[in-house]
Amino acid sequence: MNNENIIEIHGLKKSYENGQIVALNGVDLEIKKGEFVSIIGPSGSGKSTLLNMLGALDVADEGTVKVAGVDLTRTKDLSTFRSQEIGFVFQLHNLIPNLTALENVQIPMLESPLSGKKMEERAMELLRSVELEDKINQKPTKLSGGQRQRVAIARALVNHPSIILADEPTGSLDSKTGDIILNILKDLHKKENVTLVMVTHEPYVANMAERTITVRDGKIIEQKAHV
Ligand SMILES: Nc1ncnc2c1ncn2[C@@H]1O[C@H](COP(=O)(O)OP(=O)(O)O)[C@@H](O)[C@H]1O
Ligand SMILES: [Mg+2]
Repeated sequence: MNNENIIEIHGLKKSYENGQIVALNGVDLEIKKGEFVSIIGPSGSGKSTLLNMLGALDVADEGTVKVAGVDLTRTKDLSTFRSQEIGFVFQLHNLIPNLTALENVQIPMLESPLSGKKMEERAMELLRSVELEDKINQKPTKLSGGQRQRVAIARALVNHPSIILADEPTGSLDSKTGDIILNILKDLHKKENVTLVMVTHEPYVANMAERTITVRDGKIIEQKAHV
């Protein structure tokens, strides 16, 4: 077991609207490489803000955020950090409607030095791993919600990220389809030893993780390990 922290947050504060809305009010958090952590809490408690900070989609007002050895409060090239280290899976899949599944999965690789052929091969490999090899030429409107989310997972993985950040990844799906998506994420975590941080508001989903962090009013109020 690797004991290295891949995520270290200290004294993180973030507010919006000139300080009138405090989203995060002093968060300290450490996550180990390869860990599966869930973040739970009521709506508006700061879960998405916290996840976005980990993925450098938002910047801190105060405190330090260190992810995969990079101090995000000091780094200028956040987009390179994101494309190399982070795979995002959102509640709404954010696929591009006029591109096929195969093309959507290739988007994160477009800045890479890979040839077109190599990119296509990599995208195929991932679409196969989420069992969508027969849908590669379909556009998102022709896919079910679960299939779209599988494309989004394939896209998140395409650059071999060290961390997957998933924000309510089953929030727009029925429970059966949601379970399929959760199993894909869980398998990935197990097989690839990728660090998985997943936001949810459902306790049974949160309990699938190795550890659950409860957020309330912008603070971590509880941490619980699952065995
Ligand atoms: N871009 C933003 N502009 C203004 N307020 C925001 C923004 N993002 C989040 N907030 C506010 O910050 C608080 C925390 O939001 P969020 O992190 O999205 O909560 P959660 O994901 O737990 O529902 C909420 O009060 C929300 O309205
Ligand atoms: Mg949210």
